[in-house]
Amino acid sequence: MSPTLPIVVGITGASGAPYAVRLLQQLVAAHRPISLIVSKYGMRLLDTESGISSIDGLRDAIGKHDWDSCVQTFSNEDRGAPPASGSALTAGMIVCPCSMGTLSAIAVGASRSLIERAADVTLKERRKLVLVPRETPLSAIHLANMLRLARAGAVVMPASPGFYHRPKQVSDLVDFIVARMLDHLGVEQKLLERWQECYFSRLCFPACAARGLLEWQPITEGVMKPALLVFAAGALLTVSSPGCHNPAANNDVVLLNTQGLDAPTSIAPSATLTVGLNVQVGGCLKFDHIESRRTASQVDLTVWGRDIRTGFTDGAILCPRYFLELHEYQLDPPFQSPFIVRVERGRLSPLTATVQVQ
Ligand SMILES: Cc1cc2nc3c(=O)[nH]c(=O)nc-3n(C[C@H](O)[C@H](O)[C@H](O)COP(=O)(O)O)c2cc1C
Repeated sequence: MSPTLPIVVGITGASGAPYAVRLLQQLVAAHRPISLIVSKYGMRLLDTESGISSIDGLRDAIGKHDWDSCVQTFSNEDRGAPPASGSALTAGMIVCPCSMGTLSAIAVGASRSLIERAADVTLKERRKLVLVPRETPLSAIHLANMLRLARAGAVVMPASPGFYHRPKQVSDLVDFIVARMLDHLGVEQKLLERWQECYFSRLCFPACAARGLLEWQPITEGVMKPALLVFAAGALLTVSSPGCHNPAANNDVVLLNTQGLDAPTSIAPSATLTVGLNVQVGGCLKFDHIESRRTASQVDLTVWGRDIRTGFTDGAILCPRYFLELHEYQLDPPFQSPFIVRVERGRLSPLTATVQVQ
């Protein structure tokens, strides 16, 4: 998908407004142009679930600067707006969350609103259409509509997060789903480490190749050479990858992946500010300390850990399990309003929170 064409984002009245807010934040952070359409019930759910009662409120939640440079809004009543026409090029469309009402309308091509029409256009133009429904249980009608849409080329992505990353807070569950949405929209994301990305490709792969070397010794040289090459490449990746177990290193200081930042939206001027950081540890990674650099208007937090050498016999290395550890960090006044909390994350984009002091 072209990064310069707008992604059409529809927000409808299914539960799951936090997914929509986080998705918009990530898209603007990636500098992707967005054509945004919010249905009447989409706005109602934004209010009920995220305390956002207007488009201006949504703009505040996303960040005015990023919003103004990336987001164009359209009325859901205006079926003459650009997303209603196939001649207006787009990079695809996502409806998040997608109510069963809107899903059924798209399944039959009803096109009674701009969201429905834009989705219809997306399908007919053979562009990517991602639908994020939230409903449970599902009736035969819901399932039939989803099947119809999947057969027409839509990606039906129910908002049902996994738990194998050991989520500690709601934002981890939200990020799980938003990461999958971004993957399907072709937008680079670093919200979630990919399952066994580290260990299967960098540890098990050379380990398997090594086993192959031992077992296949009597086989011809033609097999041995590729196996040796695979082993050498895998071993090189293993020892050179930050965040993975490194048999050559002992107690190396490493920057830990912080997956969540929890901060109040406002505090009293004399209050202590407590922020919560969800830090990924496990496998060979262990939390060490939080470093802070601050002024009256901003704090930069960096979470450091240790790459502890446990050896190949340790089950934690062969069957690594990552989990999130909550670390609270307290800051004393003075605070200038707004006070920015920023968490550095190495190769990942930093996490930020804005705290009003009033
Ligand atoms: C608080 C609340 C929660 C709702 N949750 C869901 C839901 O999870 N899934 C769903 O399909 N509809 C849900 N609905 C119903 C839709 O909002 C309703 O069918 C609406 O007409 C959808 O319109 P839209 O698709 O144009 O936004 C909910 C409604 C309310 C008020």
